Amino acid sequence: MTSDEPTTPTGGNPYLKRAYGLRGPDDAREFYDEWAAEYDADLADDAQGYVAPELAAETLVRVAGTGVTVLDAGCGTGLVGAALAQRGVGVIDGVDVSPGMLERARATGAYRSLEPADLTRPLPTPADAYDAVICVGTLTHGHVGPEALAEFVRLTRPGGAIVATVLDDVWESGGYRAETDRLVDAGVAELVSADVTPYRSGVGVEARMLVLTAR
Ligand SMILES: C[S@@+](CC[C@H](N)C(=O)[O-])C[C@H]1O[C@@H](n2cnc3c(N)ncnc32)[C@H](O)[C@@H]1O
Repeated sequence: MTSDEPTTPTGGNPYLKRAYGLRGPDDAREFYDEWAAEYDADLADDAQGYVAPELAAETLVRVAGTGVTVLDAGCGTGLVGAALAQRGVGVIDGVDVSPGMLERARATGAYRSLEPADLTRPLPTPADAYDAVICVGTLTHGHVGPEALAEFVRLTRPGGAIVATVLDDVWESGGYRAETDRLVDAGVAELVSADVTPYRSGVGVEARMLVLTAR
């Protein structure tokens, strides 16, 4: 292993090891299309203990309530949408770069709409379209960089909430903390919290649970 390869524990899962080495949206699309069928089983087992979707959904409902229209950015197979729906959130749209993951998300029945989209670029969606944006597991090594945070703020109506997990290993080194500070300094967002939270609890991996209010 070279010194610049991620050292975040993978619990020996070969897909996770590959996931942390992705090189942009095209790579991500191809990789997640391949992983889609096994993704839920690989992450939901006790060995990985992927608790982030449940914890993020719980956080969103706490800060925004259930009567909200939510964008699930990087929705994957729909673990977050299912967790939100289970808590009574009725209107959830999902976007993801991988058609294979979107197909799985569709099968959950939790989403109003599901569309392919690349979160490293601006979305065609109008500003202030959502009461809240949630993004779980996607702000991490080799996936989507801090530039997406400004887009999440643009898509959220003033007073609405952004809830995003950022893998703790990249919170500072990946520029997410600096981008959060920039958005707050620019007056477009308010920082509610960025607490360390369990993420893949089976292997001791933590994330920041970033909560912002759009202004
Ligand atoms: C670890 S999965 C998380 C999925 C889901 N949110 C969850 O918590 O289970 C990361 C997701 O990010 C998506 N992704 C990676 N790069 C992306 C990009 N540039 N634009 C949109 N989605 C992307 C992948 O297709 C994958 O579904």
